[in-house]
Amino acid sequence: MKKSNVSVKVSSPGKVHLIGEHSVVYGEPAIIAAIGKRCYVEAEKDDAVTITSQNFGKSLSFVFDEVKAFNGKITELWNEAYKNQNFSNLFSITRNDPINYAKVAVCIALEKMKMRGGVSLNINSEIPFGAGLGSGAALAVATIKALSELYDKNLSTEKINNIAFEVEKFAHGTPSGGDNSASCYGGLIWFEKGNPNKIKSLKKEVPYELNNFVLIETKKSGRTTGELVQLVRSLKEDYRNKRIKAIGKLTYEMLEVLKNKGFIKMKEIINEAQKNLAELGVSIPEIDEICSSVRKIDGAAKLCGAGGGGVVLCYHKNKAKLMETLKDLGYRPIEAELGVEGVRIE
Ligand code: PMV
Repeated sequence: MKKSNVSVKVSSPGKVHLIGEHSVVYGEPAIIAAIGKRCYVEAEKDDAVTITSQNFGKSLSFVFDEVKAFNGKITELWNEAYKNQNFSNLFSITRNDPINYAKVAVCIALEKMKMRGGVSLNINSEIPFGAGLGSGAALAVATIKALSELYDKNLSTEKINNIAFEVEKFAHGTPSGGDNSASCYGGLIWFEKGNPNKIKSLKKEVPYELNNFVLIETKKSGRTTGELVQLVRSLKEDYRNKRIKAIGKLTYEMLEVLKNKGFIKMKEIINEAQKNLAELGVSIPEIDEICSSVRKIDGAAKLCGAGGGGVVLCYHKNKAKLMETLKDLGYRPIEAELGVEGVRIE
C-alpha cells in the first residue's frame, strides 16, 4: 500500500504571453510560454487551515468550518457580478490583501476535492506579483496539486487545471483559463478558450529554444487583472472587437513565424500586437517609451498579461544589442528561461 504523505512540496511556473492576452478572453487564440520562475507551495496536514506567505511576510489561519461559508460568499458575489457585468465587489476580496488569493485557492480546492481535513500551507514564490506573469494562477495550480498529493487524491493535470480555473474566476471575474493552463502543462502552448478549451503543446512546431526574447519589469500595475479585463469589456463593442480580432489574426501569423523563424515578420507582429493593446487602453506611458526605444533599434516589444504596468516582452535579432539598449534605459532583464516544465512535485 502507498504510504500516505505527511507533507509535500510542489511548484508551478509563471507564464508569459508571447501574444494573445485580452483577445483570448473573447475566444481568440493565445501563445503562452511557462517561464523559469516558480511558485513553491509546501503543505502539511492540519485540523485548521493556515496559510503563510513568505513573500508578504503574512499568515492567515481559520477553522475548517469557515471554508464552506467563504465559498458560499464568493460564489454569491461572482453570480451577482456576472449578472451585472461588474466584478468590483468580488475583486475587493483579493485586491485589498493578496494573501486572500491563496485563501480563495485553498478553500475552493478543499471543497472541490471533498476534503474533510485542513492544511497548513507555506508559500514562497519567485514570480513577481501583479506583473502579468501569472503569479496567481501558478499559486492556484501549486496549491491544488499540493492538496491532491497530501490527501492522496491523485488528481490528473486536467482536473487540477479545471479547479485552478475556478479559482481564477473568483480573482479575475471572467478569465480565459490560459494562465492556469500554461502553469499546469508547462512548455509553450497554443490556448483557445471554448467548450472544451483547446490546449495544444507547440513542442513539435517550435522544437528550439526561444532565445531572442528578453523580459523586463516596469512599475507595478495599480489595477488587477480582473479590473483591466473589465476595462476592456467596457469599451464600445465595435471598437474593442476590431482590435481583439486583429490580435487574433496576429496570433495565427505568429504561429507560422515561430515555425519558420522569420525574424522580420516576428518583429512586425509583436509591434502590431502592442499597438492594438495600447488602443485597448492597457498600456502605460512607461511601456510605450520602452517599446518606442526598442523599435528604434529595429526590435520589437509589447506588454505582457493584463498590462497597466508589469512585464514587457522585448525581441531582437541581436540579443546583445537589445540588452545594451535596455540597460541604457535603466532596466535589468528578468533571468527566466521560456518553455519550462509545468506543475511538479519537488
Ligand atoms: O496579468 P495576468 O498574468 O493575470 O494575465 C492576464 C491575461 C489576460 O488575457 C488579460 C486575462 C486572461 O484571463 O487571459
